Amino acid sequence: MENQTLLTARPDANLHAAIAAVRSPETTTSDWKQALPVLTGSMVTLRELRLSDATSLLAMLSTQEVARFISPPPTTVEGFERFIAWTHRERAAGNYACFAVVPNGTDTAIGIFQVRQLEPGFGTAEWGFAIGSAFWGTGVFMDGARMVIDFAFDTIHTHRLEARAAIRNGRGNGALRKLGAMQEGILRKSFLRNGEYLDQALWTILDEDWRAQRIVWGVQIH
Ligand SMILES: CC(C)(COP(=O)(O)OP(=O)(O)OC[C@H]1O[C@@H](n2cnc3c(N)ncnc32)[C@H](O)[C@@H]1OP(=O)(O)O)[C@@H](O)C(=O)NCCC(=O)NCCS
Repeated sequence: MENQTLLTARPDANLHAAIAAVRSPETTTSDWKQALPVLTGSMVTLRELRLSDATSLLAMLSTQEVARFISPPPTTVEGFERFIAWTHRERAAGNYACFAVVPNGTDTAIGIFQVRQLEPGFGTAEWGFAIGSAFWGTGVFMDGARMVIDFAFDTIHTHRLEARAAIRNGRGNGALRKLGAMQEGILRKSFLRNGEYLDQALWTILDEDWRAQRIVWGVQIH
């Protein structure tokens, strides 16, 4: 995991302002390389990883059910601390962003969302995510995912956001489908896990599709 990263017009001005108030980062959009913005949703806050997150992330992400279809996470607190330090260096270099997922009202990281550039300037980027299994099916993923995708399109100006999910990963594929991602194809035997090459689905979201879809969600929020 240390070197492989595990995402118009508005119906009315009031709605636009309401969504902006919920989603607006605490820092300006241009300085994410200095420090990631804090993104606040209805269930979770996304913020920069801290070294002190290592213990909870080890507990949340090293379980068999979480780690089964992702690049092997670190197996020790020290390993997670090294990973967290690496995320800070990669963010400062402008290559990558990794957010901690923190349920509102707590200060405990229960998962991560990652975005990395696939070409200089982030025109095409890849995102990935992992959340502690106690929080699966709770809505935490969707809340965080929407904010990360907004960040990718609005702040770092990605136009195409890719995700890869092992075909056998029912929840990973189900989550991407639910977000409106398009499955473009199957990458045959593209992911080596536990000595076996797995097929992966390639899922993409384009900036224009996301903005059109956001209008629909905005109406539902209202
Ligand atoms: C991927 C992950 C972040 C998604 O979070 P989550 O809380 O499980 O996601 P959700 O429950 O919101 O959405 C998953 C959807 O897949 C559906 N699903 C579950 N098992 C499924 C299966 N076997 N086949 C198809 N769909 C399935 C769920 O029903 C749900 O859809 P619904 O809300 O319409 O019912 C989480 O499962 C996780 O951390 N998994 C381990 C790490 C991982 O695999 N990361 C993804 C790499 S691509």
